[in-house]
Amino acid sequence: MDGNGRWAQTRGLPRTEGHRAGEHSLFEVVETCDDLGVEWLTVFAFSTENWKRPKDEVSFLINFNEEILIRRRDELHEKNVRVRFVGRRDWRVPKRLIRRMDETLELTQDNTGLTFTIAFNYGGRAEIVDAVRKIVADGTPADKITEKTIARRLYDPEMPDPDLVIRTSGENRISNFLLWELAYSELLFTDTPWPEFGRQSFIDAIHEFQSRDRRFGGVASTG
Ligand code: IPE
Ligand code: MG
Repeated sequence: MDGNGRWAQTRGLPRTEGHRAGEHSLFEVVETCDDLGVEWLTVFAFSTENWKRPKDEVSFLINFNEEILIRRRDELHEKNVRVRFVGRRDWRVPKRLIRRMDETLELTQDNTGLTFTIAFNYGGRAEIVDAVRKIVADGTPADKITEKTIARRLYDPEMPDPDLVIRTSGENRISNFLLWELAYSELLFTDTPWPEFGRQSFIDAIHEFQSRDRRFGGVASTG
């Protein structure tokens, strides 16, 4: 969900107003997933590198994420959305935010609609490091390690590899998002900043995705 800060700055607003404006896009996309029958949506809310930002912005983002969970969780629950989280739960994440996450997780865990995963204090490399730690701690012999061994120890082993990754706001890079999982994902980069990315942009992205020819290293099927 990139481009909140720049969106605000070009309007002479503080960067934090951009994050606030992004909430609207996020819930429009959640609703659109629901309408279209998309089963898994994962959003990058805060990366392991975002701690480098000015202190004020970091604490705004932490408080804002907590506030959104409190304000929106009943609505998500009513929509039958199952909320999950991926990321490191280290000392940098305040205990109260962890509590909100756990409460939201628990409230929505049996829902059968969209699985909405929030990546918070998430880094793709950190996720792989954490998986390797678990493999070593389990005492797995080297010659027994396969791709499945790693995939099963990611933060959410149930999460399917994404079909489509959308990055907003004109940056053409992955920035440490789901590194293992997106090996064969379709990548879509758009100049639209996140606060302007709503229902229609998401539908356009799905249309673009549907026109892609996915071969997974094979050859085109002749139908
Ligand atoms: C929001 O956009 C994404 C977060 C990390 C919270 P940015 O804050 O990265 O906005 P830009 O890239 O500075 O415009
Ligand atoms: Mg950015």
